[in-house]
Amino acid sequence: CGIVGYVGENKSLEVLIGGLRRLEYRGYDSAGVAVIDEDGGLGVAKKAGKLVKLTDELEAHPINDGRTGIGHTRWATHGGPTDRNAHPHLGDDGRLALIHNGIIENFSELKNELLAEGHTFESETDTEVAAVLLGREYRAAGDLRLAFQRTVSRLEGAFTLLALHQDQPGLVIGARRNSPLVIGLGDGENFLGSDVAAFVEHTRRAVAIGQDQIVAITADSVTVTDFDGAVVEAEEFDVAWDASASEKGGWSSFMAKEVSEQPDAVANTIRGRIHDGAVAVPELTAFGDDALAAIRRITIIGCGTAAYAGIVAKYAIEKWAGIPVEVELSHEFRYRDPVITDDTLVISISQSGETMDTLMAVKFAGERGAKTLSICNTQGATIPRESDAVIYTHAGPEVAVASTKAFVAQITALYLFGLHLARVRASLSAEEIAVELHELEGIPEKLATVLRTGEIIRQLAHWMSDTRAVLFLGRHVGFPVALEGALKLKELAYIHAEGFAAGELKHGPIALIEPGQPVFVIVPSPRHSALLHAKVVSNIQEIRARGARIIAIAEQGDAAVLPFADEVIPIPLAAPLFEPILAVVPLQIFAMELATAKGLDVDQPRNLAKSVTVE
Ligand code: G6P
Repeated sequence: CGIVGYVGENKSLEVLIGGLRRLEYRGYDSAGVAVIDEDGGLGVAKKAGKLVKLTDELEAHPINDGRTGIGHTRWATHGGPTDRNAHPHLGDDGRLALIHNGIIENFSELKNELLAEGHTFESETDTEVAAVLLGREYRAAGDLRLAFQRTVSRLEGAFTLLALHQDQPGLVIGARRNSPLVIGLGDGENFLGSDVAAFVEHTRRAVAIGQDQIVAITADSVTVTDFDGAVVEAEEFDVAWDASASEKGGWSSFMAKEVSEQPDAVANTIRGRIHDGAVAVPELTAFGDDALAAIRRITIIGCGTAAYAGIVAKYAIEKWAGIPVEVELSHEFRYRDPVITDDTLVISISQSGETMDTLMAVKFAGERGAKTLSICNTQGATIPRESDAVIYTHAGPEVAVASTKAFVAQITALYLFGLHLARVRASLSAEEIAVELHELEGIPEKLATVLRTGEIIRQLAHWMSDTRAVLFLGRHVGFPVALEGALKLKELAYIHAEGFAAGELKHGPIALIEPGQPVFVIVPSPRHSALLHAKVVSNIQEIRARGARIIAIAEQGDAAVLPFADEVIPIPLAAPLFEPILAVVPLQIFAMELATAKGLDVDQPRNLAKSVTVE
């Protein structure tokens, strides 16, 4: 969910709606705002559906504006996406409003306690329980801060909460546990947001709030305390993104813009991290070279696209650094008994840095004694704060729900890490490392070349707009690309899609092939690996003989695939480990164009959210 809070000299509705617009990628099942007006009245508006439903509602039935307010966009957990379940929720005397992100695990126990005392509820949400509890505590304490402290101490689970009370205008109070909340520092005004996108339009000075902390903002003060009310020091940082980076510009969608930004995403992630043919990642000094050299195994964790970036990196890190690497979905890793020792490094990958499944897995790994490294695209996010070290990807804000530029930036950051590791372990010579780095530095330009093939793919997608199932095949690093191509199509175009390792085809999936079945095949370069290439070409022949329609992503000039492919999408020559960064792009564009041809919203696909902050 997306959360925004404001206290200041300006009218708050505009600030809140602007913030919600930038946060809408975090959830778009419903949206709502609560504002304390000049006369101390509390105005609330909330509506199921995307943010535009709320702005229409505010136009039809305006509420009084004021200088203190909170706003929310929801990704439904408890209770369906209805007007009533939308946030804010009010205390049962209607004098306070509260918004929430996360899940309050002991909500039914608390609800029973409150019901027994005669309190009443209007919705099915866990959030309303917190609101009613806060109301009860407020009446007992007569002070919002104290009441809030007492309330959050009773809650279990994961939450960010923001509240205001009409008896204390000019104050917004918030708390976080395992769920994000950041402060924006203005001049005569202050902000709260799930991430900096909420307020980057107004200020680039931010403060990250730690675990189990409470923040109170007024127009000219910010106080951070722990759950017992003891004041804690909080660290200020400058937001590197400017507001325009999270605008759509002239593009038809955020996704189209972000796909086009991939050359920069890679170039910016490399920038400043290569000196004289050697990797320089100062963030890794947190471990020390000796400790890194002593690592015996690496586990990479992530969800969705991030996990696929991890599989790509496994091939590279094992080859360069000679360390066993396993890749696991965060939620699977967390709930088994993985073998973790103090020479295990757990690398988490997360664009948002907030994915709850991954956050829980990182904490779990840390508690079991692993060293933890985070690959993250969002400054001040929770996962990097919970990790021993972080390498930030510099892809810029990614707003479209389906990840694109973050994926190529994640692979880039992991490759820099892999080459750093190869240096400290002396598993590659300085010359060998320089060759790989040179290849990496050439990728942005090659990405720009791939983007120019967009038109062929666009046409293909439009021809295929009534396709019901698509398969994707790849070998070696082409395998995770196949998985990612299938994920993009599922996410965006709601088409049944599967990615397979090409070698696995004959062990089952080949039964799916019938005449006309479209199959994308990621073909490795013949110049770099004749053997792998030959194997993939045989796989193509096997399925073509059974009537499949082949769309090959192949190196420019690869004559061997031409006779067997119905379509060939060319990519520039790159060393094998670098091909995924190029080969994924046509698949992203294909999914985006096919969704567009079907009239779907590519930025906000149904049922999904960009930052899934519940487990
Ligand atoms: C959600 C999104 C996916 C994304 C995944 C991981 O499920 O729909 O597109 O890949 O989260 O997100 P993260 O922010 O952790 O990279």
